[in-house]
Amino acid sequence: MDVLAGIRAIAKENLREDVWHYLSEGEGTGHEQAFADFRLVPRPLRDLGAGHTRRTLVGQSLDHPIILAPVAYQRLFHRDGEAGSAIAASAQGGQAVISTLASQSFSEIFEAARQGGGHAPWFQLYWQGGRDKTLRLLERAQAAGFSTLVFTVDAPIKRASLRLPSEIAAVNLEPDAAHETTPTRAFDGFLAQAPTWTDLSWLRQRCQGALLIKGLMHPDDAQRAVEAGCDGVIVSSHGGRVLPGCATSLKALPAITRRLKARPGNKPLILLDSGIRSGRDIFIALALGASAVLLGRPYLWGLAMDGAMGVARVIRLLRDELEMTMALTGCASLDAIGPHCLAEGGSARLPS
Ligand code: FNR
Repeated sequence: MDVLAGIRAIAKENLREDVWHYLSEGEGTGHEQAFADFRLVPRPLRDLGAGHTRRTLVGQSLDHPIILAPVAYQRLFHRDGEAGSAIAASAQGGQAVISTLASQSFSEIFEAARQGGGHAPWFQLYWQGGRDKTLRLLERAQAAGFSTLVFTVDAPIKRASLRLPSEIAAVNLEPDAAHETTPTRAFDGFLAQAPTWTDLSWLRQRCQGALLIKGLMHPDDAQRAVEAGCDGVIVSSHGGRVLPGCATSLKALPAITRRLKARPGNKPLILLDSGIRSGRDIFIALALGASAVLLGRPYLWGLAMDGAMGVARVIRLLRDELEMTMALTGCASLDAIGPHCLAEGGSARLPS
């Protein structure tokens, strides 16, 4: 069994069955397997003496391109919660995105990231049904010190598959919104309160720092988001958890890369989320045009295994695998990774 599979098995042992089920929803729907289609080309004999995995994102210099994806209610998985993930990301020289549905206060999470010695974490925003409420949440997050905003738009219907224990809630929300609701009807129910393109432009004007949009899969949408002022796009299928039969984000990445890289002027950031399970997967995402990746369930397995230490272990594992893949393919830096690193005939290879 590989190391990550071992960590997953321990997490499963440690978690209540319903919590494990909540965490695992969407697994095995093809999003992890999409990476297996690609083959890499070894390039020996190159001088890799000064090799590194550093990358600067939204003005923050990171040691590697692994960002912890926003995940709700992390105290379900371990008492260290979001603070444990934030300290691990920070101590490992990476970054974490804190969910709207975090189960610990912004200040507690910020303090943990500070202790880890890293940059201020990013904040993930779910639309709060209307502008006033959304603005109040944004202002609380900005007052707490968050500057980079990740606006998730692919999950307007948040299905609550789990009854939360009484001691776990989304503590940074106004009381009536602190628990996920189960919608009965889509169009006249929850979706009536979902954000639109106009709301995105409104949000852009109120967001003081970088604005990234998470959950786009179509090049037209990615282009429109950038035209609305987004600094970057997170190509994501929400880990296969929202739309049954959703295309894989890896499949969507090349067309979005082509479209956004063809634009004149500043190049928006492109990040890939969903299905990352190894350093090799990260390498493939970068070869297809992503600047960095978001990692979801694997770090929660680490959290469930051993709190902050377990998260750090997973990040280190994937980073080591990425470095090894770079060494064997002759890439001394992330900039050296590109479509040329993939074997001819890779099913989603970028056309030249
Ligand atoms: C999520 N995800 C998520 N996304 C988001 O923007 N806000 C959130 O609160 C949550 N909550 C959440 C809970 C759980 C239990 C999971 C597993 C996922 C989605 C997450 O950010 C990310 O898109 C996926 O997890 C990526 O897929 P992988 O890496 O888990 O395959």
